[in-house]
Amino acid sequence: MSPFRLTRTLPEDATEAALRADVHQGLTSSPRTLPPKWFYDAHGSDLFEKITELPEYYPTRAEREILVARSGEIAAATGARTLVELGSGSSEKTRHLIDALTGLHTYVPVDVSESALTQAGQALAAERPGLHVHALIADFTAALTLPDTPGPRLVAFLGGTIGNLVPAERATFLASVRALLSPGDALLLGTDLVKDEQVLVRAYDDAARVTAAFNKNVLTVINRELGADFDPGGFDHVALWDAEREWIEMRLRSRTAQTVKVPALDLAVDFAAGEEMRTEVSAKFRKEGVRGELSAAGLELTHWWTDGEGRFALSSSVAR
Ligand SMILES: C[S@@+](CC[C@H](N)C(=O)[O-])C[C@H]1O[C@@H](n2cnc3c(N)ncnc32)[C@H](O)[C@@H]1O
Repeated sequence: MSPFRLTRTLPEDATEAALRADVHQGLTSSPRTLPPKWFYDAHGSDLFEKITELPEYYPTRAEREILVARSGEIAAATGARTLVELGSGSSEKTRHLIDALTGLHTYVPVDVSESALTQAGQALAAERPGLHVHALIADFTAALTLPDTPGPRLVAFLGGTIGNLVPAERATFLASVRALLSPGDALLLGTDLVKDEQVLVRAYDDAARVTAAFNKNVLTVINRELGADFDPGGFDHVALWDAEREWIEMRLRSRTAQTVKVPALDLAVDFAAGEEMRTEVSAKFRKEGVRGELSAAGLELTHWWTDGEGRFALSSSVAR
């Protein structure tokens, strides 16, 4: 069994304060919004894993196909001794990369979901003798302090999770990733690509309604953590394609006129019948757009790999 450490970079009450601030701001703004990071309590993380296995949800399979085909190339190009993974979740696909990185010393999974980090981190430490696993409970949109580990460092951000950030957030995020990279380090970025609208919408509105349950889970989190009285059955799951912004939007639509109380925030929120609250955006990308956003953050695209059907891309970039 290899060493496994779990570090909380923020005190637990900071997470609660962040939830309170986000929910207060989101429920009092117009239109109402909730940030996607609050989907991921233990149940939400389990639901996301189920989503990755759905026939409609192609991104996980497409990205895995690229990792299976290209991990050797990525390993040869980077020679990474430390692999940092942002929003690592179950770390399932990352195993292909870990296996290919023969000189890897430390794996640093970073996630807001303590349950996902513990499960994945302990399993990897047990399976990979000699690999140090240092998990960080942290918000990747905040300033990250990484453990002092040997370089070169490869920072992976997989799953198309970058699409959950709106353009201004992506610019800030990519600049903060750039600041983590020294010469010889690299960023490995997974981006879902623009494609047929029906294929995209189905990926976020599956027949088995797993994504609907995932979407409504944010209400359960707010009920539990802030004593709110959201009735998840009182909201419908909505997924639509915004062709102008080239992103999928997930929303919760109030079935009736209703008032929701959030005692911890001293808030009563009136929803009109049919009113929609945005819970996630998932931006889809084109190669030139990715190159441009990386470049604006001081990063230079060096490799671009797609799956056989051109649905998803992995790119590698380095600090300029
Ligand atoms: C779409 S899932 C992708 C999981 C995994 N990387 C994959 O490719 O299957 C997003 C992951 O990022 C985590 N996450 C979301 N927002 C986060 C944030 N602001 N900081 C850290 N982790 C976050 C979630 O807990 C979840 O594990």
